[in-house]
Amino acid sequence: MDSEEFYRRGKKSLERAITADENKDYPLAKEFYERACEEYLIGLRRDANKPRQAQMVERVKNYLSRAETVKGIIAEKRKGNGRKKLMGPTRSKSSSVEIGDGEERGFDKIAGLEHVKQSMREAVILPMVQPQLFKGKRVPWKGVLLFGPPGTGKTYMAQALSEEAEVNFVSISASDIVSKWQGESEKAVKSLFEEAKKSKKPTVIFIDEVDSIGGSRDKKTGSNAEASRRLLTELLKQMDGVGSVDRGITVIGATNHAEDIDSALRRRFEKRLYVPLPGMKSRLKIFELNFGTDTMLHSLTKSDLIRLTKMTKGYSASDLTNVVNEALMMPVRLCHKASHFKEVHVNNGGSFWGTTGLVPCASNDPNGKPMKMFDRDFPAEKLLVPKVTFAHVKRAIAKIRPSVSDTEIRRHEKFAEKFCGDQNITSRLRNEEEAEEKELLEELNRAKESSMMRRMSSMFSNPFLVFTNSSEAEHEHNRTAVPQ
Ligand SMILES: Nc1ncnc2c1ncn2[C@@H]1O[C@H](COP(=O)(O)OP(=O)(O)OP(=O)(O)O)[C@@H](O)[C@H]1O
Ligand SMILES: [Mg+2]
Repeated sequence: MDSEEFYRRGKKSLERAITADENKDYPLAKEFYERACEEYLIGLRRDANKPRQAQMVERVKNYLSRAETVKGIIAEKRKGNGRKKLMGPTRSKSSSVEIGDGEERGFDKIAGLEHVKQSMREAVILPMVQPQLFKGKRVPWKGVLLFGPPGTGKTYMAQALSEEAEVNFVSISASDIVSKWQGESEKAVKSLFEEAKKSKKPTVIFIDEVDSIGGSRDKKTGSNAEASRRLLTELLKQMDGVGSVDRGITVIGATNHAEDIDSALRRRFEKRLYVPLPGMKSRLKIFELNFGTDTMLHSLTKSDLIRLTKMTKGYSASDLTNVVNEALMMPVRLCHKASHFKEVHVNNGGSFWGTTGLVPCASNDPNGKPMKMFDRDFPAEKLLVPKVTFAHVKRAIAKIRPSVSDTEIRRHEKFAEKFCGDQNITSRLRNEEEAEEKELLEELNRAKESSMMRRMSSMFSNPFLVFTNSSEAEHEHNRTAVPQ
């Protein structure tokens, strides 16, 4: 390859770096600035045109300096995040208790749901860090109910809370209590609250699927009805105790059948919070969180993610996580199915020029060799899984449909209207979605315009660099491996 080819690659990496820089995606920007420099430098070494070489050296210096600045911003941000976390997690165990899965998840990992995070801070974190505010008549919420369609982050929010605040965090699944402790389940609830009362630290008791304990007493029938009524009565009694003497306990319940909850229990959850389907900005954040910034994994730009976000109206957070998982598997499946692979040179943005890897290819590719991933002698260490592209995610969206129906959403909104005093919830959420859509589409248009301007200006100032304006070609270009 000649210098022109490397300059062309350098220019493309540079464009991606600038876009990421403008979008404040600094880790991505740093990676592409460095990659651009490396590509320009290789071009420089092969360039016989001395005046152009000198011009290029100056340019590379500028890009390196911007990469250094971006590195500084990343380091500053890291320091900031460290300060932001109030305290580390402390969790206590209890029988029939299920505690988070150990993965690091603070509120930062939760897309949207700002009103829920705010109420969690008021109910749990504020009384802990500013206890003097809660003396006398001002008391923190003792019961908070999270309700909404499945997969919208109710359980996930509780896990995040356990990481944000230094509290004893006890998480129980109500259906577990009912099934594991048949007949004795009210004793389990009693000892759970007693343990929490003894603790010197504030305690959050999170009861997932609270409707399976707290279903309306009138509707309880059959052989277990009596045991079930006793269990509910015990829970009501324990929750009463929480407010009067034991201010350090907060009970958080989660359900997707809020309307079935017994009225006495509903009253004890003084704060009821609707956890709706994610709006457009939250969907974008969920895509960003799930795809991450690993440019070896995918070639998705912010503009791509905005377009995908627009296609996923009505998807729950967990539907979107499934879409991402499906898209991430597509290139792997391509490798599974491939009957031919070809050798390519690796360009991973690091200093590994000269290393080769294997990518799947068509059976009639002149450089392809017949082999299968499951062959005994397949050199697994050389396999380069192609990156996830916009087209992959689009296919995943077509395959995974939204799991929550309109009727179900209406049911939750009705409860919110009736018991949270949110009279105009349907129109408020619709207006918010429209406003977010408008804002993001404007951002998309601005990104398109500025990318066009950059291309045009660099075409006029650097006529020797090859110009390309196809965004689809850009997706295809940004691959881990560059075929020879
Ligand atoms: N707000 C969010 N931001 C990012 N990811 C989310 C969010 N909400 C949910 N998720 C993802 O979706 C998955 C399922 O969420 P979760 O189990 O909390 O749903 P849920 O509301 O408790 O559903 P259910 O009512 O069925 O219990 C989470 O593990 C997480 O990966
Ligand atoms: Mg849940």
